[in-house]
Amino acid sequence: MGITFRKETFRDDFTFKNSPEHIRRFPFPFHEDSYMYAVNIEPHVVGPKGSVLENLIDVDEHYVAEMQDRALVLAEDPLRCQSLPHMTLAGWDLLELLMEQQALGYPEHFTLTRDGDRWRWINRPLGIDDTFTFGDTSTLPYGPMEYITRQSQGDFCILDQRDGNLWMDAGMVTTQADWSLDFDIGMNFFEWHAPVPLAHEKGIFVRALKFLTNIQQGKPARRLNWTMTINPRLDTSPENYHKWGPDRATVTPENVGDKVHLRVELQSFWRLPRSNGIVFPIRCYLIKMDELVTQPKWARRLHRVIRDLPDELANYKGLTRYRPTLVEWLSKLDDGRTTSPGF
Ligand code: HEM
Repeated sequence: MGITFRKETFRDDFTFKNSPEHIRRFPFPFHEDSYMYAVNIEPHVVGPKGSVLENLIDVDEHYVAEMQDRALVLAEDPLRCQSLPHMTLAGWDLLELLMEQQALGYPEHFTLTRDGDRWRWINRPLGIDDTFTFGDTSTLPYGPMEYITRQSQGDFCILDQRDGNLWMDAGMVTTQADWSLDFDIGMNFFEWHAPVPLAHEKGIFVRALKFLTNIQQGKPARRLNWTMTINPRLDTSPENYHKWGPDRATVTPENVGDKVHLRVELQSFWRLPRSNGIVFPIRCYLIKMDELVTQPKWARRLHRVIRDLPDELANYKGLTRYRPTLVEWLSKLDDGRTTSPGF
Protein backbone atom coordinates (compact mmCIF):
# COMPACT_ATOMS: atom_id res chain seq x y z
CA MET A 1 0.00 0.00 0.00
CA GLY A 2 1.27 3.48 -0.85
CA ILE A 3 1.84 6.36 1.54
CA THR A 4 -1.05 8.79 2.12
CA PHE A 5 0.57 12.20 1.81
CA ARG A 6 -0.72 14.86 4.20
CA LYS A 7 -1.83 18.31 3.08
CA GLU A 8 -0.17 20.60 5.62
CA THR A 9 1.97 23.68 6.17
CA PHE A 10 5.24 24.47 7.98
CA ARG A 11 4.59 28.22 8.17
CA ASP A 12 1.73 30.72 8.73
CA ASP A 13 -1.12 28.51 10.04
CA PHE A 14 1.24 25.56 10.85
CA THR A 15 -1.10 22.66 10.11
CA PHE A 16 1.72 20.08 10.24
CA LYS A 17 1.12 17.07 12.46
CA ASN A 18 2.11 13.42 12.71
CA SER A 19 -0.31 10.52 12.31
CA PRO A 20 -0.30 8.00 15.22
CA GLU A 21 1.81 5.66 13.10
CA HIS A 22 4.38 8.42 12.49
CA ILE A 23 4.49 9.29 16.18
CA ARG A 24 5.43 5.67 16.90
CA ARG A 25 8.18 5.66 14.27
CA PHE A 26 9.67 8.96 15.42
CA PRO A 27 13.47 8.57 15.80
CA PHE A 28 13.69 9.43 19.50
CA PRO A 29 17.39 10.26 19.87
CA PHE A 30 18.25 9.69 23.53
CA HIS A 31 19.76 6.38 24.69
CA GLU A 32 20.07 7.50 28.31
CA ASP A 33 18.74 10.16 30.69
CA SER A 34 21.46 12.69 29.85
CA TYR A 35 23.05 14.06 26.70
CA MET A 36 26.51 15.16 25.61
CA TYR A 37 28.13 15.38 22.19
CA ALA A 38 29.97 12.24 21.06
CA VAL A 39 31.24 10.65 17.84
CA ASN A 40 27.95 8.75 17.59
CA ILE A 41 28.46 7.31 14.11
CA GLU A 42 27.26 3.83 13.10
CA PRO A 43 26.81 1.93 9.83
CA HIS A 44 23.74 3.09 7.91
CA VAL A 45 22.05 -0.27 7.43
CA VAL A 46 18.37 -1.08 6.99
CA GLY A 47 16.40 -1.29 10.25
CA PRO A 48 13.05 -2.72 11.39
CA LYS A 49 9.98 -2.58 9.15
CA GLY A 50 7.82 0.41 10.01
CA SER A 51 10.78 2.41 11.40
CA VAL A 52 12.44 5.41 9.71
CA LEU A 53 15.27 3.01 8.86
CA GLU A 54 13.11 0.62 6.85
CA ASN A 55 14.67 2.26 3.79
CA LEU A 56 18.05 4.01 3.69
CA ILE A 57 16.39 7.08 2.15
CA ASP A 58 13.13 7.55 4.01
CA VAL A 59 10.04 8.99 2.34
CA ASP A 60 7.06 9.66 4.61
CA GLU A 61 3.61 11.21 4.85
CA HIS A 62 5.13 14.74 4.89
CA TYR A 63 6.90 14.34 1.53
CA VAL A 64 4.65 16.39 -0.73
CA ALA A 65 4.16 19.22 1.79
CA GLU A 66 7.90 19.39 2.47
CA MET A 67 8.65 19.68 -1.23
CA GLN A 68 6.09 22.48 -1.53
CA ASP A 69 7.72 24.31 1.39
CA ARG A 70 11.15 23.92 -0.25
CA ALA A 71 9.84 25.44 -3.48
CA LEU A 72 8.54 28.44 -1.52
CA VAL A 73 11.91 28.95 0.20
CA LEU A 74 13.78 28.74 -3.11
CA ALA A 75 11.42 31.19 -4.82
CA GLU A 76 12.23 33.75 -2.09
CA ASP A 77 15.93 32.95 -1.78
CA PRO A 78 17.68 31.02 -4.59
CA LEU A 79 20.99 31.03 -2.64
CA ARG A 80 19.68 28.15 -0.49
CA CYS A 81 20.83 25.97 -3.36
CA GLN A 82 24.42 26.41 -4.52
CA SER A 83 26.90 24.25 -6.38
CA LEU A 84 30.45 25.42 -7.15
CA PRO A 85 31.44 24.71 -10.77
CA HIS A 86 33.60 21.63 -9.99
CA MET A 87 30.66 19.90 -8.22
CA THR A 88 28.41 19.10 -11.18
CA LEU A 89 29.66 15.51 -11.45
CA ALA A 90 28.92 14.99 -7.75
CA GLY A 91 25.43 16.35 -8.47
CA TRP A 92 24.91 13.56 -11.02
CA ASP A 93 26.17 11.04 -8.47
CA LEU A 94 23.58 12.33 -6.02
CA LEU A 95 20.80 12.24 -8.60
CA GLU A 96 21.59 8.58 -9.26
CA LEU A 97 21.71 7.72 -5.56
CA LEU A 98 18.40 9.38 -4.72
CA MET A 99 16.55 8.07 -7.76
CA GLU A 100 17.77 4.53 -7.12
CA GLN A 101 16.98 4.59 -3.41
CA GLN A 102 13.54 6.17 -3.77
CA ALA A 103 12.56 3.81 -6.60
CA LEU A 104 13.84 0.82 -4.61
CA GLY A 105 12.05 1.73 -1.40
CA TYR A 106 8.79 3.06 -2.85
CA PRO A 107 8.12 1.46 -6.26
CA GLU A 108 4.46 2.49 -6.11
CA HIS A 109 5.51 6.16 -6.06
CA PHE A 110 8.79 6.34 -8.03
CA THR A 111 10.10 4.53 -11.11
CA LEU A 112 13.53 4.80 -12.72
CA THR A 113 14.13 3.20 -16.13
CA ARG A 114 17.54 3.26 -17.83
CA ASP A 115 18.49 2.62 -21.42
CA GLY A 116 22.21 3.42 -21.54
CA ASP A 117 22.46 7.16 -20.78
CA ARG A 118 18.77 7.71 -21.56
CA TRP A 119 16.94 7.73 -18.23
CA ARG A 120 13.25 8.07 -17.47
CA TRP A 121 12.18 9.21 -14.01
CA ILE A 122 8.60 9.04 -12.83
CA ASN A 123 7.67 10.73 -9.56
CA ARG A 124 3.95 10.13 -9.08
CA PRO A 125 3.36 12.14 -5.86
CA LEU A 126 4.73 15.29 -7.54
CA GLY A 127 3.32 14.50 -11.01
CA ILE A 128 6.72 14.35 -12.76
CA ASP A 129 7.61 12.17 -15.75
CA ASP A 130 10.93 13.25 -17.31
CA THR A 131 13.28 11.63 -19.78
CA PHE A 132 16.86 12.95 -19.85
CA THR A 133 20.43 12.06 -20.75
CA PHE A 134 22.51 11.17 -17.69
CA GLY A 135 25.50 13.53 -17.57
CA ASP A 136 23.97 16.17 -19.88
CA THR A 137 22.67 19.06 -17.80
CA SER A 138 20.93 20.66 -20.78
CA THR A 139 18.39 17.82 -20.71
CA LEU A 140 17.09 18.73 -17.20
CA PRO A 141 15.16 21.82 -16.07
CA TYR A 142 17.73 22.45 -13.27
CA GLY A 143 21.25 21.27 -12.48
CA PRO A 144 21.25 17.61 -11.37
CA MET A 145 21.60 18.33 -7.64
CA GLU A 146 18.84 20.93 -7.63
CA TYR A 147 16.60 18.76 -9.81
CA ILE A 148 16.67 15.75 -7.51
CA THR A 149 16.79 17.59 -4.18
CA ARG A 150 13.63 19.48 -5.11
CA GLN A 151 12.14 15.97 -5.02
CA SER A 152 13.81 14.55 -1.89
CA GLN A 153 13.06 15.19 1.76
CA GLY A 154 15.80 16.68 3.91
CA ASP A 155 18.72 19.00 3.30
CA PHE A 156 21.80 17.88 1.39
CA CYS A 157 25.42 19.01 1.58
CA ILE A 158 27.89 17.68 -0.94
CA LEU A 159 31.45 17.71 0.29
CA ASP A 160 34.52 17.67 -1.92
CA GLN A 161 37.39 15.68 -0.43
CA ARG A 162 40.89 17.11 -0.90
CA ASP A 163 43.99 17.85 1.23
CA GLY A 164 42.73 15.42 3.89
CA ASN A 165 39.68 17.60 4.57
CA LEU A 166 36.06 17.97 3.46
CA TRP A 167 34.86 21.17 1.77
CA MET A 168 31.25 22.29 1.63
CA ASP A 169 31.19 23.02 -2.08
CA ALA A 170 27.52 22.31 -2.91
CA GLY A 171 24.20 21.96 -1.13
CA MET A 172 20.44 22.31 -0.98
CA VAL A 173 19.66 23.69 2.46
CA THR A 174 16.13 24.94 3.17
CA THR A 175 15.21 23.13 6.42
CA GLN A 176 18.22 23.87 8.60
CA ALA A 177 18.59 24.43 12.33
CA ASP A 178 20.00 27.96 12.27
CA TRP A 179 22.99 27.74 9.94
CA SER A 180 23.50 29.09 6.46
CA LEU A 181 24.76 27.41 3.31
CA ASP A 182 25.46 30.81 1.78
CA PHE A 183 27.75 31.58 4.76
CA ASP A 184 29.41 28.14 4.88
CA ILE A 185 29.88 27.50 1.15
CA GLY A 186 33.56 26.78 0.41
CA MET A 187 34.43 26.18 4.11
CA ASN A 188 36.14 23.06 5.43
CA PHE A 189 35.00 20.65 8.18
CA PHE A 190 36.65 22.58 11.04
CA GLU A 191 35.62 26.00 9.75
CA TRP A 192 31.88 25.29 9.44
CA HIS A 193 31.87 23.52 12.83
CA ALA A 194 33.64 26.46 14.53
CA PRO A 195 30.51 27.73 16.41
CA VAL A 196 29.78 24.37 18.12
CA PRO A 197 30.64 24.53 21.87
CA LEU A 198 32.61 21.88 23.85
CA ALA A 199 33.01 19.41 20.94
CA HIS A 200 36.33 20.80 19.62
CA GLU A 201 38.01 20.42 23.04
CA LYS A 202 36.83 16.81 23.23
CA GLY A 203 38.57 16.01 19.94
CA ILE A 204 35.23 15.03 18.40
CA PHE A 205 35.75 16.80 15.08
CA VAL A 206 39.29 15.45 14.52
CA ARG A 207 38.03 11.88 15.02
CA ALA A 208 34.86 12.44 13.01
CA LEU A 209 36.79 13.83 10.04
CA LYS A 210 39.15 10.84 10.08
CA PHE A 211 36.15 8.53 9.97
CA LEU A 212 34.38 10.44 7.19
CA THR A 213 37.38 10.74 4.87
CA ASN A 214 37.65 6.93 5.01
CA ILE A 215 34.03 6.15 4.16
CA GLN A 216 33.80 3.67 1.31
CA GLN A 217 31.36 3.39 -1.53
CA GLY A 218 28.39 1.16 -0.66
CA LYS A 219 29.06 1.48 3.09
CA PRO A 220 27.19 4.60 4.26
CA ALA A 221 27.17 5.69 7.91
CA ARG A 222 24.73 7.68 10.05
CA ARG A 223 24.22 9.61 13.27
CA LEU A 224 21.37 11.44 14.99
CA ASN A 225 21.46 15.07 16.04
CA TRP A 226 18.69 17.07 17.72
CA THR A 227 17.49 20.49 18.71
CA MET A 228 14.14 22.14 19.45
CA THR A 229 11.97 24.44 17.36
CA ILE A 230 8.98 26.59 18.27
CA ASN A 231 6.10 25.77 15.91
CA PRO A 232 6.61 23.11 13.23
CA ARG A 233 8.75 25.38 11.10
CA LEU A 234 11.15 23.73 8.67
CA ASP A 235 12.97 26.86 7.57
CA THR A 236 14.75 28.06 10.72
CA SER A 237 17.60 29.69 8.82
CA PRO A 238 19.67 32.69 9.96
CA GLU A 239 18.39 34.44 6.82
CA ASN A 240 14.84 34.28 8.24
CA TYR A 241 15.71 34.68 11.92
CA HIS A 242 13.47 37.74 12.13
CA LYS A 243 10.49 35.46 11.31
CA TRP A 244 11.12 32.66 13.80
CA GLY A 245 13.50 34.00 16.49
CA PRO A 246 10.75 35.95 18.31
CA ASP A 247 8.61 32.76 18.53
CA ARG A 248 10.86 31.64 21.38
CA ALA A 249 9.37 34.37 23.55
CA THR A 250 5.82 33.09 22.98
CA VAL A 251 6.07 29.83 24.97
CA THR A 252 3.78 29.72 28.02
CA PRO A 253 2.80 26.89 30.41
CA GLU A 254 -0.51 26.67 28.51
CA ASN A 255 0.93 26.27 25.00
CA VAL A 256 4.13 24.20 25.56
CA GLY A 257 2.50 21.00 24.33
CA ASP A 258 1.42 22.56 21.07
CA LYS A 259 4.27 24.95 20.30
CA VAL A 260 7.49 23.25 21.42
CA HIS A 261 8.81 20.66 18.96
CA LEU A 262 11.66 18.21 19.22
CA ARG A 263 13.60 18.38 15.97
CA VAL A 264 15.66 15.31 15.17
CA GLU A 265 18.08 15.06 12.28
CA LEU A 266 18.89 11.68 10.83
CA GLN A 267 22.23 12.47 9.21
CA SER A 268 23.88 10.03 6.84
CA PHE A 269 27.20 9.97 5.01
CA TRP A 270 27.66 8.37 1.58
CA ARG A 271 30.71 8.12 -0.68
CA LEU A 272 29.85 9.12 -4.25
CA PRO A 273 31.22 6.86 -6.99
CA ARG A 274 32.40 9.15 -9.84
CA SER A 275 33.36 12.34 -8.00
CA ASN A 276 34.72 10.71 -4.81
CA GLY A 277 32.70 13.36 -2.92
CA ILE A 278 30.65 12.68 0.21
CA VAL A 279 26.98 13.47 0.38
CA PHE A 280 25.49 14.38 3.74
CA PRO A 281 21.68 14.16 3.78
CA ILE A 282 20.16 15.78 6.86
CA ARG A 283 16.67 14.41 7.24
CA CYS A 284 14.60 16.45 9.69
CA TYR A 285 11.79 14.95 11.81
CA LEU A 286 9.52 17.19 13.89
CA ILE A 287 7.24 16.19 16.76
CA LYS A 288 5.28 18.46 19.10
CA MET A 289 5.41 17.85 22.85
CA ASP A 290 1.73 16.78 22.98
CA GLU A 291 2.52 14.04 20.43
CA LEU A 292 5.80 13.02 22.04
CA VAL A 293 4.37 12.54 25.53
CA THR A 294 1.91 9.96 24.23
CA GLN A 295 4.93 7.67 24.76
CA PRO A 296 5.48 7.90 28.57
CA LYS A 297 9.08 6.63 28.43
CA TRP A 298 9.99 9.43 26.01
CA ALA A 299 8.37 12.08 28.24
CA ARG A 300 10.22 10.81 31.32
CA ARG A 301 13.59 10.76 29.55
CA LEU A 302 13.20 14.05 27.73
CA HIS A 303 12.43 15.75 31.03
CA ARG A 304 15.73 14.56 32.51
CA VAL A 305 17.77 15.36 29.38
CA ILE A 306 16.50 18.93 29.07
CA ARG A 307 16.68 19.57 32.83
CA ASP A 308 20.32 18.45 33.02
CA LEU A 309 21.60 19.70 29.64
CA PRO A 310 24.84 21.69 30.02
CA ASP A 311 24.14 25.43 29.69
CA GLU A 312 26.57 25.77 26.77
CA LEU A 313 24.53 23.26 24.74
CA ALA A 314 21.20 24.78 25.77
CA ASN A 315 22.44 28.22 24.67
CA TYR A 316 23.83 26.96 21.37
CA LYS A 317 20.59 25.14 20.60
CA GLY A 318 18.59 28.26 21.49
CA LEU A 319 16.55 26.68 24.32
CA THR A 320 17.56 28.96 27.16
CA ARG A 321 14.61 31.31 27.08
CA TYR A 322 11.86 28.69 27.35
CA ARG A 323 13.79 25.86 29.06
CA PRO A 324 12.36 26.50 32.58
CA THR A 325 8.77 26.48 31.24
CA LEU A 326 9.40 23.29 29.28
CA VAL A 327 11.14 21.49 32.17
CA GLU A 328 8.32 22.41 34.56
CA TRP A 329 5.73 21.09 32.09
CA LEU A 330 7.65 17.84 31.45
CA SER A 331 8.34 17.29 35.16
CA LYS A 332 4.66 16.54 35.71
CA LEU A 333 5.03 13.56 33.38
CA ASP A 334 8.12 12.17 35.08
CA ASP A 335 7.12 9.67 37.77
CA GLY A 336 10.76 9.23 38.84
CA ARG A 337 10.97 5.64 37.61
CA THR A 338 14.36 4.29 36.56
CA THR A 339 14.60 4.09 32.78
CA SER A 340 16.31 1.32 30.88
CA PRO A 341 19.21 2.19 28.56
CA GLY A 342 18.60 2.14 24.82
CA PHE A 343 15.10 2.25 23.25
C1 HEM B 1 26.74 21.19 13.83
C2 HEM B 1 27.59 20.29 9.16
C3 HEM B 1 29.32 15.92 10.25
C4 HEM B 1 28.89 17.00 14.92
C5 HEM B 1 26.88 21.35 12.48
C6 HEM B 1 26.55 22.54 11.74
C7 HEM B 1 26.78 22.28 10.44
C8 HEM B 1 27.27 20.93 10.33
C9 HEM B 1 26.57 23.22 9.25
C10 HEM B 1 26.01 23.85 12.32
C11 HEM B 1 27.18 24.71 12.77
C12 HEM B 1 26.75 26.14 13.10
O1 HEM B 1 26.31 26.39 14.24
O2 HEM B 1 26.85 27.00 12.21
C13 HEM B 1 28.10 19.01 9.06
C14 HEM B 1 28.42 18.35 7.82
C15 HEM B 1 28.91 17.13 8.12
C16 HEM B 1 28.90 17.01 9.56
C17 HEM B 1 28.22 18.94 6.42
C18 HEM B 1 29.36 16.03 7.20
C19 HEM B 1 30.35 16.12 6.42
C20 HEM B 1 29.38 15.83 11.61
C21 HEM B 1 29.86 14.70 12.36
C22 HEM B 1 29.75 15.03 13.67
C23 HEM B 1 29.18 16.34 13.75
C24 HEM B 1 30.37 13.41 11.74
C25 HEM B 1 30.10 14.26 14.93
C26 HEM B 1 30.39 13.11 15.11
C27 HEM B 1 28.21 18.19 15.02
C28 HEM B 1 27.70 18.72 16.27
C29 HEM B 1 27.05 19.92 15.95
C30 HEM B 1 27.21 20.10 14.52
C31 HEM B 1 27.83 18.08 17.64
C32 HEM B 1 26.25 20.80 16.92
C33 HEM B 1 24.81 20.38 16.78
C34 HEM B 1 23.82 20.83 17.81
O3 HEM B 1 24.11 20.93 19.01
O4 HEM B 1 22.64 20.99 17.45
N1 HEM B 1 27.33 20.39 11.60
N2 HEM B 1 28.40 18.17 10.08
N3 HEM B 1 28.98 16.80 12.49
N4 HEM B 1 27.89 19.03 13.99
FE1 HEM B 1 28.20 18.63 12.05
